[in-house]
Amino acid sequence: MLVLGLESSCDETGVALFDTERGLLADAVYSQIALHAEYGGVVPELASRDHVRKALPLIREVLAAGGHALNDLDGVAYTAGPGLIGALLVGAAIGRSLAWGLEIPAVGVHHMEGHLLAPMLEDDPPAFPFIALLVSGGHTMLVRVDSVGSYHILGETLDDAAGEAFDKTAKLLGLPYPGGPELARLAESGDPTRFRFPRPMTDRPGLEFSFSGLKTFALNTLGELEPTEQDKADVARAFEDAVVETMAIKCRRALRETGIPRLVIAGGVGANRRLRERLAEIARQEGGQVHYPRPKYCTDNGAMIAYAGALRLAAGAHELNVIGARARWNLDALEPVV
Ligand code: KG4
Ligand code: ZN
Repeated sequence: MLVLGLESSCDETGVALFDTERGLLADAVYSQIALHAEYGGVVPELASRDHVRKALPLIREVLAAGGHALNDLDGVAYTAGPGLIGALLVGAAIGRSLAWGLEIPAVGVHHMEGHLLAPMLEDDPPAFPFIALLVSGGHTMLVRVDSVGSYHILGETLDDAAGEAFDKTAKLLGLPYPGGPELARLAESGDPTRFRFPRPMTDRPGLEFSFSGLKTFALNTLGELEPTEQDKADVARAFEDAVVETMAIKCRRALRETGIPRLVIAGGVGANRRLRERLAEIARQEGGQVHYPRPKYCTDNGAMIAYAGALRLAAGAHELNVIGARARWNLDALEPVV
């Protein structure tokens, strides 16, 4: 079954072609970073308009790269939420219209399901059940994944998402949007022993997170200085270490509490090298394994949507032919794929 996947929930237009027999045939991502950079964050209306401009050329490009024509498609998958509603509606309208014109089924995919299934695109996919740490710009959660579509949320952030905390702290450090990768780069030259930031909510039981205090801690630390480049690098390093260590503590706890030895890391912050290394260490110490998508499938992409949608379409998913999207959508409300 040949499925076209469309991702347009935020500031990346992603398109991919996935075949249930042959795997991923082609994928392309257009990032709107340059468009939003001067505003210091994503401007929703500009994002929607840019998806309109980029989606069709990208679809043509991906079909050509995969050696297929529109008529070869057996189904279309698009991100139906959660995300920016205008941006989502672009993908939903294009996806539904294409499917209607080609008389093939279409399915709306949950963006976070896409993220958590992304490691399935790699050579060593995790077996079910596994624990997924989903860390993106909008979400931070630990999820027990029993099978495709069967998700139990073990803990979430009570305030900022991990990526949001990275981006806000990066802004305080004067780094351009999106700050996560920039902050990580700056932290490379930071002294890990100079400042020690707290590890929020690790002194009590539970798998909840809270990251908003860390940016305040960074602000207060910087406020006491006339910061030099080295000071900023030291703050970046202390912040990154605090986020990584907090996640490591919670992941270790989740593996122990559930007795499930497989850990998946997905979502944009999952591209963070220090986080990947530390969680691999934790999983090893717990006698388990860590699985993560390659960095380009950690951040938003069409491949994860094509894959998650293909599983649902292959299982006979049938949806009303209505163009719709959801800004908010609970991951644990999804139907299991049987
Ligand atoms: O999953 P994603 O591409 O989009 C959402 O669904 O939100 O995640 C984007 C987030 C941004 O906050 C970005 O700063 C962060 O992931 N991010 C990183 C790194 N790469 C991306 N954060 C820390 N270190 C990185 N290397
Ligand atoms: Zn995402």
